[in-house]
Amino acid sequence: MAQFFPSVTADSLKNKVIVITGGANGIGASLVEYCCHHGAYVCFGDKAVSAGVQLAERLCASSASSSRPQAIFYETDVIEYKSILNLFDAALDTYGHIDHAVAGAGVMEIGNWFDPGLTLEDVREPATTKVLDVNLGGCLSVARIASVYLRQNRPMDADRSITLISSVAGFKESPGLFVYQASKHGVLGLMRALRLYLSRSPHLLRINAVCPWMTTTGMVQGIEEAWRNAELPVNSPMEVAIVTAGLLVSQQLNGKSMFVEGGRAWEIEANIDRLEPQWLGEEPSRSLAKGQAVLADGSDWTKSGRNAR
Ligand SMILES: NC(=O)c1ccc[n+]([C@@H]2O[C@H](COP(=O)([O-])OP(=O)(O)OC[C@H]3O[C@@H](n4cnc5c(N)ncnc54)[C@H](O)[C@@H]3O)[C@@H](O)[C@H]2O)c1
Repeated sequence: MAQFFPSVTADSLKNKVIVITGGANGIGASLVEYCCHHGAYVCFGDKAVSAGVQLAERLCASSASSSRPQAIFYETDVIEYKSILNLFDAALDTYGHIDHAVAGAGVMEIGNWFDPGLTLEDVREPATTKVLDVNLGGCLSVARIASVYLRQNRPMDADRSITLISSVAGFKESPGLFVYQASKHGVLGLMRALRLYLSRSPHLLRINAVCPWMTTTGMVQGIEEAWRNAELPVNSPMEVAIVTAGLLVSQQLNGKSMFVEGGRAWEIEANIDRLEPQWLGEEPSRSLAKGQAVLADGSDWTKSGRNAR
């Protein structure tokens, strides 16, 4: 079993600069708090302005740092690319560099795209894509912007990373959460597509994903009671935050996905790869490996013009 034990020491987050989206509530807020308490400087964005402002004020008031704010909140809508840019600009302008970025903003399923009551008339109107835009579009934009901002003012040996918050719905079917599940699969897909590519020069970045199961935040209020009645494992937001912080400080971890249940974390990528000859079959698995060797780290594939059509 691939259990992951996060080990954040007293110094491992100290003076790190971390940008977090979705940091005003839930898992993101716990991560902001945890990182600040371990001496990191956090620039976090969210649409929830009053919760964000209050959290930043509280963390700055209890901080020992007088020269630089321990936490900065910036109103951010991850659907708007420029809004994410402003968040990264605020971090770079204030702290001079950025060590880690965490894309945590997310929303739950909205309505029912596949409502059995839909008529020929209803289906002429498109349904909202907001869940996809926030959960997947937000991660794509954060990853793109971070891939450049994390390289700025960087000592040669500095460890820098991106962490994307996916979900159990990123790898396990979640009936009813149609768009949410598509978005969270997309987040894992993005992490997999980038893990080799970003590890190469000039990026030299690690990228990982967190896949929480039921976590007691505002997002899951409707189902929490049924969950507890069924005696299923539940995470506190802080437990997921600690796993996420563990990924930030684990310099050897790249391309991993941590499933988090009942406060425990389990890495899923290694076993998916290791057991591929069993679940797919030895021959197609060998063939896939040859194809992967042709794709390599993606640098050839992405040479200018090659995929522009
Ligand atoms: N709670 C769970 O059980 C659970 C399980 C799996 C994955 N997740 C994921 O964890 C992440 C955090 O969720 P949470 O459970 O803490 O929920 P939450 O609702 O407490 O926090 C989500 C935060 O994202 C912010 N947000 C939403 N849309 C935004 C936008 N367009 N721009 C900027 N900020 C925006 C919200 O204002 C909120 O502060 C999400 O990506 C969620 O999908 C949660």
